[in-house]
Amino acid sequence: MTTSGGIRVPRDRAEQVRRELLKQGVLRSGLKPLREGDFVVFPFETRPEGITGEMVEVDFEATSEGPRSYMDRLQLPPELVQQLPSSFDVIGTIVAIRLEGDLLPYQKEIGEALLSFVPRARTVAVDHGVQGPTRVRALEVVAGEDTLRTRYRENGIDFEVDLGRVYCSPRLAREHAYIAGLVTPGERVLDLFCGFGPFGLTILRKHADVRVVSVDLNPQAIEFLRDNARRLRVEDRIEAKCLDAAVFLEEESSFDRVIMNLPREGYKYLPKVGSRVKGPGWLHFYGLVPRDQQRSTEEMVLSHLTSEAANGRWTLEGSREVHPYSPSQLLMAFTLRKHGESEVP
Ligand SMILES: C[S@@+](CC[C@H](N)C(=O)[O-])C[C@H]1O[C@@H](n2cnc3c(N)ncnc32)[C@H](O)[C@@H]1O
Repeated sequence: MTTSGGIRVPRDRAEQVRRELLKQGVLRSGLKPLREGDFVVFPFETRPEGITGEMVEVDFEATSEGPRSYMDRLQLPPELVQQLPSSFDVIGTIVAIRLEGDLLPYQKEIGEALLSFVPRARTVAVDHGVQGPTRVRALEVVAGEDTLRTRYRENGIDFEVDLGRVYCSPRLAREHAYIAGLVTPGERVLDLFCGFGPFGLTILRKHADVRVVSVDLNPQAIEFLRDNARRLRVEDRIEAKCLDAAVFLEEESSFDRVIMNLPREGYKYLPKVGSRVKGPGWLHFYGLVPRDQQRSTEEMVLSHLTSEAANGRWTLEGSREVHPYSPSQLLMAFTLRKHGESEVP
């Protein structure tokens, strides 16, 4: 799968939109349009003009002559060609690819092949995975410009990021837009574990009368968040705090909606978060879940939330798979509702 910007349009307008994208020369080749019920998402190279549709960032499947063809530009022993990954991430002008074992000695050649194949690419880096508490990706530049800084477009919003300094995953783009779509006028939102701020900033770009408090312990993430907020002209409605969540949660403040996106360890903060949500209010919790243990995880999340006095009455309103995380684990999103004093759950 390859992540790309796309335009989501109703199926009955799909053919007309496809022709218009071709006419503008922005339809991205090598990726299959995605069917989603009554909608079709077309991948694009650059944002089309004058076409009505929702701008999204999603994973597209390669066409048979698509991204596999970066492999055609390589001369490797046949047994290694078989091990080449068929997918990679494109974040702005940076291509990040996972390579292992026998492929590593060929990383420069693979990087050059990707650089010449991916139209927007200016840098290719080998992705050695996210590391440490800040979850920043260990990226090794193997071809192109020696920089991990880029402008990255998601849901029609341009973010400035440095992939060597902040966590950034295009696979969360849909979640950022989804949660922004749930927010209602006048809300005060807490984005705990905010990174460079895509949840909070997407919410603020969509809603003029909402305020956000964002918290992260990575000072560079907070710096990027503040810069992006200024550029997007929402800085007067966002308060960015460089703090450990455990310290922040000692503060006496409450929110209409809390977002918690620290999938591996977020669970341990749930007891304290419970009392920071107003009743009525909402919590969006992201967690890693073993594939067959969705039910027991839901129960565990609820029991953590209600484990402290004054945490109120909670119900699980829904859970959904965000994306596979490993062969045995899924990234799941849980939506929980805290009921007000007078509400009967
Ligand atoms: C998975 S990233 C989420 C980023 C962001 N929400 C997004 O959608 O792109 C988790 C973030 O939590 C931060 N973090 C990890 N432990 C933390 C803690 N104890 N307190 C505050 N932030 C923490 C990391 O620095 C990282 O930016």
